[in-house]
Amino acid sequence: MRFNTTLLLLLAFSLSMHAQKKKADKKIKPRDEFVAELMAKMTIDEKIAQTVQFTADGTVTGPKGGDNFINEIKKGNVGSILNATGVKYTRELQKLNLDNSRLKIPLLFGYDVIHGYRTIFPITLGETAGWDLEGAELSARIAADEAAASGIHWTFAPMVDIARDPRWGRVSEGSGEDTYLGSKMAYARVKGFQGNDLSLNNTILACTKHFAAYGAAEAGRDYNTVDMSERVLRETYLPPFKATVDAGVKTFMTSFNEISGVPATGNKFLVNGILKNEWKFDGFVVTDYTGMNEMIYHGFAKDSMQAGELAMVAGVDMDMVGGIYLKKLKKLLNEGRVTEAQINDACRRILEAKYDLGLFEDPYRYNDEKREAATITKKEYLDAALRIANKSMVLLKNNNNVLPLHKEQKVAFVGPLVSDDWNIIGSWAATGDRQGFAVSVQEGVNKIITDKSKVTFDKGVEIVDQRRDMMQKALDNARKADVIVAVMGEFENMTGEAASRTNIDLPGIQKEFLAELKKLGKPIVLVLMNGRPLTLSWENENMDAILEAWFPGTMGGDAIAQTLYGINNPGGKLPITFPRNLGQVPLYYNHKNTGRPYLGASDPEQKYKSRYIDSDNSPLYPFGYGLSYTKFDYSNLKLSSKSISMGGKIKVSVDVANTGNYDGEEVVQLYVKDEFGSVTRPVKELKGFRKLILKKGEKKTVEFEISTNDLRFYNIDMKFVAEPGDFEVSVGGSSDANLKDKFVLVK
Ligand code: GLC
Repeated sequence: MRFNTTLLLLLAFSLSMHAQKKKADKKIKPRDEFVAELMAKMTIDEKIAQTVQFTADGTVTGPKGGDNFINEIKKGNVGSILNATGVKYTRELQKLNLDNSRLKIPLLFGYDVIHGYRTIFPITLGETAGWDLEGAELSARIAADEAAASGIHWTFAPMVDIARDPRWGRVSEGSGEDTYLGSKMAYARVKGFQGNDLSLNNTILACTKHFAAYGAAEAGRDYNTVDMSERVLRETYLPPFKATVDAGVKTFMTSFNEISGVPATGNKFLVNGILKNEWKFDGFVVTDYTGMNEMIYHGFAKDSMQAGELAMVAGVDMDMVGGIYLKKLKKLLNEGRVTEAQINDACRRILEAKYDLGLFEDPYRYNDEKREAATITKKEYLDAALRIANKSMVLLKNNNNVLPLHKEQKVAFVGPLVSDDWNIIGSWAATGDRQGFAVSVQEGVNKIITDKSKVTFDKGVEIVDQRRDMMQKALDNARKADVIVAVMGEFENMTGEAASRTNIDLPGIQKEFLAELKKLGKPIVLVLMNGRPLTLSWENENMDAILEAWFPGTMGGDAIAQTLYGINNPGGKLPITFPRNLGQVPLYYNHKNTGRPYLGASDPEQKYKSRYIDSDNSPLYPFGYGLSYTKFDYSNLKLSSKSISMGGKIKVSVDVANTGNYDGEEVVQLYVKDEFGSVTRPVKELKGFRKLILKKGEKKTVEFEISTNDLRFYNIDMKFVAEPGDFEVSVGGSSDANLKDKFVLVK
């Protein structure tokens, strides 16, 4: 029986958490009592101070905001600091704060631990391509352990923004285009960061961001306007946020964007209305970096006084770097524009989080230098990073089984990222080491191929720079090889925040270099390191194999090399659609049918249909798509019944056989189509998936269950209900699944 190493590590974690149980030994009163008594002693200035967050010098993740944060700490004006890392530094700042805090209220240290703290995992879009929920929980658990060991109490993750526009650089940070998959990933990651017990000193607060619909920025331009119906907001963009509330997340972050005219940071319908009242969220809400101040630029607040008023009235509890709550809240209170009850509620929520972390018992419980040294990048964490990176690999093309490579082949490795150990860990890589610690593709290959005469490594070109002087040497080596492997893509900072692109081709002269390589008449494997879908129609036509590796993290070079040489059989599936060209964008699988659906070349009506005259409607690679070195055949789709009554369930089963020559992993996907409704419905929606491991020749039956709850949507009256009618089920290894059956939902 193949042990699931990920599950074993998660189990070991929970056991160790019990074993070491460095819980805050509860010498103090129960939380509500403790916080109430503390607040009764606090002045209004001390309460306001809890709502204030500044950034530590040197690291900014937005426009430089706030005054000198050290002076503010000395004046007792700060509740939280972001971007301070390391046991030593956070201890110093905590001591400075406590020495100047009349009531000894500890600072909260926050940091962007997005896909790892020092051991860096694949970017979240890549990790999602593994469809591995246990892996996602484990990577968050490891990230939390490393961050907590380094003095961090709170991470600004998971980023759960649904994104359908690859021009937007931040698609790299989330889980792609699908609400169901995004919700599952969001839940798993909160569980990983927060564990089961926040009073342990290796668990940290998670922060669901960016609330909300930040990924729907018009034209994919970061921070741009978002305008959508409440139905689309609630059906597509909010479920991953709600999933994190269900997972017990302790903090939220509002987004920079407006939603239909109202900036999220001052949006009481969104924050107080949906998050705190409808969802009963009991944690606290922080703005994004100077997001409060930006309501002035939005033209929603006429000055910082009004910005502060709008944010506080909306239900925002903490001001990240903006300095408005510090400077304006007391005046707003005195003018009756905000109430003491609102300030008290914000302060209470923040103090409760500090209590839950055990910081009142021991403000230095995350400051153990020996533990820090013993925890950071320990071997089992690097091993986990390799396993998760291997699962993130998506094989997009493999003509004539050019992959996997064989050790006796002579291989010319080329491309600007072939020896890279800087970009490979992606953007938002926290304290990830970019000075040679990460494993490059060249290093990974050299661990496998000991006979150095079999491999050559040449960049040939840069990522963006147009210099051509390295190309000839690379071509000369490629000419002598049996196979060419081109490792290409984007700089890590071409995705992430403030990194939107109007052209999502391979940048620079990389494609030109591929064309030169193509002239040599050898098989060419293209390996991609990128943080977004790219437009790859030419590459798809001209390359023999294409492997999507995303930015695979600290162990990325090993994962790519092990995949190329068949030690790892790629089983990843795309979490986001790859368009044929940018003109199709936004392009996503769960689109509407329209009144003139174009059926492709077979459509008897070729003109008056919803289509382009210069491109096919279909994507280059659809959501959920990914190949393997082996082959999976689907058969015997069965429904336990042809009809389901309201409140009932049906079982769906399908047989999956590994009919190829390799053991492999397949993501079996279940889609449902609601044929008609009181409002139009998507052509299909993901409603379930199973990650299946099948040895070659093995066959398994996979079962799903569909309940009427799974069929709910916001109907014409905005009621979240399932409606009677006809439904179609499709099952397969991609959103193009064509094994179908039907059932009826009756009253
Ligand atoms: C940035 C990002 C946000 C991040 C925050 C703190 O501007 O939008 O995702 O968590 O500031 O660094």
